[in-house]
Amino acid sequence: MKLQQQDPQIYDLIKKEITRQKEGLEMIPSENHTSEAVLEALGSRLTDKYSEGYPGMRYYGGCENVDVVENLARDRAKELFGASWANVQAHSGCPANQAVYFALCDPGDTVMGLKLFHGGHMTHGLKLNFSGTIYHSVQYGCREDGFIDLDEMRSLAHEHKPKLIVTGGSAYPQIYEWAKYKEIADEVGAYLLADMSHVAGLVAGGMHPNPVGIADVVTTTTHKTLRGPRGAIIMANGNPSTPLTKVERSKENIPTLVDRAIIPGLQGGPHNHQTAAIAVALKEARQPAFKNYAKQIVVNAKTLAEELLSKGYQLVTGGTETHLLLINLGNKDITGKQGEKALGLAGITVNKNTIPHDPRKPFDPSGIRLGTPALTTRGMKEAEMRVVANMIDRALTNHGDENALTRIHDEVKEMTKNFPLSPKLA
Ligand SMILES: Cc1ncc(COP(=O)(O)O)c(C=O)c1O
Repeated sequence: MKLQQQDPQIYDLIKKEITRQKEGLEMIPSENHTSEAVLEALGSRLTDKYSEGYPGMRYYGGCENVDVVENLARDRAKELFGASWANVQAHSGCPANQAVYFALCDPGDTVMGLKLFHGGHMTHGLKLNFSGTIYHSVQYGCREDGFIDLDEMRSLAHEHKPKLIVTGGSAYPQIYEWAKYKEIADEVGAYLLADMSHVAGLVAGGMHPNPVGIADVVTTTTHKTLRGPRGAIIMANGNPSTPLTKVERSKENIPTLVDRAIIPGLQGGPHNHQTAAIAVALKEARQPAFKNYAKQIVVNAKTLAEELLSKGYQLVTGGTETHLLLINLGNKDITGKQGEKALGLAGITVNKNTIPHDPRKPFDPSGIRLGTPALTTRGMKEAEMRVVANMIDRALTNHGDENALTRIHDEVKEMTKNFPLSPKLA
């Protein structure tokens, strides 16, 4: 009520966005719909509070409540993923990764990550990103079949002796083989960072191997498959000492090094409302219903993959073991950019994406990336995935026909009426 009176412009835009989400199929694999409880924590008075430092060691008074909130978030993260230490203050995924680089490397040190255009993330060493400008970045890629090229990763690691190897990614439809990456990191004495941002919810739900306990340090966003607010968690199994004490660089000291990298290294006050919302999401992720959710995400992605394959679409790696699919439109009469636009007009939100060894340019690539976390949150199952695959096929086939696309959007609106945005928590 207050917002509507005070700032009708913003109020209307929020209303419009809710309608857009309700009446569309959100298939960007890094997006999801949080619960009402998460939203409530996020919109709370906790946003008013400054609390630089860590629980029990703050530079501000009045932190008795936010101390408990942050401890709850940290404990729930540790319990869910089996870590001995967690930091929940990084404002989002990029700053979380930045904190790990800052903690473990000096400017100019060699770091190694998966190429952005092969499914990596820009913070994994892209030349235009801090990770590729402050550090000397070497990049591994995927084989022609789309799977991460472990041979190349190993030979580049031996040749360049990186201080830090970054694994995980943003557009990889297969299982991340954390133990194999660790073997390579150990062979060359590198720290291993597993960025499980995309698959954290699958890890929590037992549908993807857990990197905690294998990698030296693990980062994750909280807003993708994990279904929390925007934010991040950094975890390790080292020895947390007093966070703000200066310590030697070593694997055991990673918790202290990263805590110090977050503050005073990179950030000021933690976002307490966000920390509380992360705690709520972590509590939800511990419920049995979340296991079913994670399983259904993968079942849905596989169903979608089968349907699209049967309609003649090419999928990078031949299918999916996770929540996402990467379609190579190379054999169809349409580019990724045109595909994104056509699907958008049909009410199906996806994003254009490069495929490994893409013959086309990144701003107009051959692929489309899509996923099932948000649709699964809304309660959609295999039957709906078959309908969605059919809609995707019709939209891509009729990409030049605006009337056809509008008709599909009408069907999407009709279908989504039965599927609320809020997740089922029990
Ligand atoms: C693997 C990976 N790491 C880090 C990030 C960065 O997260 P944020 O956008 O919250 O900074 C993303 C986001 O897409 C990601 O996919």
